[in-house]
Amino acid sequence: MQTVRDLDSLRVAIDEFRTEGHRVALVPTMGALHAGHMALIEAAKARADRVVASIFVNPKQFGPNEDFDAYPRKENADAAMLEAAGCALLWLPPVEVMYPDGYSTNISVSGVTEHLDGAARPGHFDGVATVVAKLFNQVQPDIALFGEKDYQQLAVIRRMVTDLNVRIEIEGVPTQREEDGLALSSRNIYLSPEEREAARVLPRALGEAARAIAAGGDVAEALTKARGMLAKAGFDPIDYVALHDAGTLDPLTVFDRPARLFAAARIGRTRLIDNLAVE
Ligand code: PAJ
Repeated sequence: MQTVRDLDSLRVAIDEFRTEGHRVALVPTMGALHAGHMALIEAAKARADRVVASIFVNPKQFGPNEDFDAYPRKENADAAMLEAAGCALLWLPPVEVMYPDGYSTNISVSGVTEHLDGAARPGHFDGVATVVAKLFNQVQPDIALFGEKDYQQLAVIRRMVTDLNVRIEIEGVPTQREEDGLALSSRNIYLSPEEREAARVLPRALGEAARAIAAGGDVAEALTKARGMLAKAGFDPIDYVALHDAGTLDPLTVFDRPARLFAAARIGRTRLIDNLAVE
């Protein structure tokens, strides 16, 4: 695996893949890699000849009171995992390459960002859309893969690619979970043993609510019950537990179309998110 940190070297490497006639996949990440990220790499290998992974902890998508400085950085371990997984190229841009002095352009996707984390984290998805658009232009892959763990992020990328006529296939990969159901996340390492124990209630509460709603139960009642389970386990504050249209992400009060259940809540100092299909 080749590791590159400047745009000229990236272009040389990508041009070589192209000259050899290879189909290229991109897996954008912020590092601190775990089995969730590696599932994206595996899916990418199945869909392309050369897999490019990027690691960039993007300052533009962190709010002023969020964990940008504390965000885990594990460059060597990440590179070893990617190499072992058969990744061909690691793109590790320094912040001056991504946002040089005078940088002034931002991409803002409306609609799908109106609710959920779009409302709870102002500016977050502008930061995500902007950095992903830059990564797309830098790497120019045929396909890019994103996790359903960040379902709203996947919807934002799909919308941006459609709206801006970007010729890149977008593929969603199912959420990878611990044995007790907790979605894998780079932020799980913040959890104390007690918080980790309580965190398993998040997927359980969503699962119970999803089953109740799918079986025709009252939506508001199911959501209230799930919030109660989270509060009892020590989650505080609960940003949202809500049912939304799986495509537009419009809020739903009845289950009458393909839908997705979403939750975000804090346990101790760690904010966890999760989502499940209702079917
Ligand atoms: P990061 O949180 O590092 O996640 C990188 C990719 O891994 C995302 O597509 C995310 O949805 C996926 N992922 C994380 N945990 C997962 C899990 N348990 N199962 C399946 N996929 C999982 O998301 C970002 O970085 C950034 O916002 C980024 C897109 C790189 C832009 O900065």
